[in-house]
Amino acid sequence: MDKDKEENADFLMDDDLEDEGLLGLPVQEIVESSEENLAPLVFNLMEMHFSVGEIYWNMSSGKKITLFHPGDWIRKEYLQKFLSAGKDIQIDSILNEDYCSKGLNLFDKFLDSDEENEKSKFRDSIIGWLCDGYWNNQEQVGLADLMFVCEQSFFNFDGEEEKKIFNASADLMKRSSIVGSLLVSLAIVMGYLDKNLLKDLYHLSFLFDISLDENVLSTNLINALEQERKTPQSWHSSLGENEVSTFKSHSELGVGKAFAFYENKMSNPGLLNFIETHHERINGLGFPLGLKEGEISDLEGLIIFVNNRFPYSDMTLRHGDACSYLRVLMEKNEELDAVLTNRIKKIVTNEFENRDSEHAKYLEVSGI
Ligand SMILES: [Fe+2]
Repeated sequence: MDKDKEENADFLMDDDLEDEGLLGLPVQEIVESSEENLAPLVFNLMEMHFSVGEIYWNMSSGKKITLFHPGDWIRKEYLQKFLSAGKDIQIDSILNEDYCSKGLNLFDKFLDSDEENEKSKFRDSIIGWLCDGYWNNQEQVGLADLMFVCEQSFFNFDGEEEKKIFNASADLMKRSSIVGSLLVSLAIVMGYLDKNLLKDLYHLSFLFDISLDENVLSTNLINALEQERKTPQSWHSSLGENEVSTFKSHSELGVGKAFAFYENKMSNPGLLNFIETHHERINGLGFPLGLKEGEISDLEGLIIFVNNRFPYSDMTLRHGDACSYLRVLMEKNEELDAVLTNRIKKIVTNEFENRDSEHAKYLEVSGI
């Protein structure tokens, strides 16, 4: 994918960036919200971090050049080349824009609240918002919607930090933004209300594999991550000797690297220690420590659940691809028993299911 983009860029530099003046303006698409009190979504590509759709340029020949796919990190200097050349850059958004407007509004108010009561009220509304889309089928939602709302609410890496993470692996970075979004959402459902802790959790997701940087990361290692995710302790076969050692030590080494890279930006730097347990299971079959359910905290349990349920491959994002996604993630199967503690399952399920019964009561009373 990246190779294609570079080819496109080279092609442009050769043939198309001549005397076309400066545009210098990002693409904006303004969508009127159906609710009066909600701000319309504004897509300012130069300020966004991850693409919420296919971003492309139509050449005069009619050929379509895709710059970014949904979920890709938007490389500003690459985009700027096109904008500076006056190219007409388009985006086909895959978002449910009304749903995202509601989510942005709720997260904004939640993160702005200092009063516990207020925070609790907005937490409740966020759970309702998540429930409508990612637990029930009442909203047509995709992972891109959650990714977008969480990015807008939490993302705080600076340009250099973004580049370092992207340079290690574009695919891992894209995955991290989804894992981080699922993680903070479930943390809110679990009752974590401290906004600094939630921000830290979101950023922590990008650092799990920080020791697998561009110097050591290979397709083999990414395949091994997926293999280990599906079947713990069965990842060795595809790796060479050096890769086995890199893979085995990456959780432990990641802690030190993450402290060096990001400790100063964290309100709770102690969370970086959880990098060591991101491949643990709750049945002793994870690595490197082989922990069991009683030996992990709730936050570690959430990390283990999300990191081991979300794949490392096939991360194509589509409009509406995640209806009831959280419910599906928590459905009983063999894999789930190894990654989800009873306590987390009970709390999250109760929060969503009790809301269902409250909602049903409301519908009954209101005669709908
Ligand atoms: Fe990892």
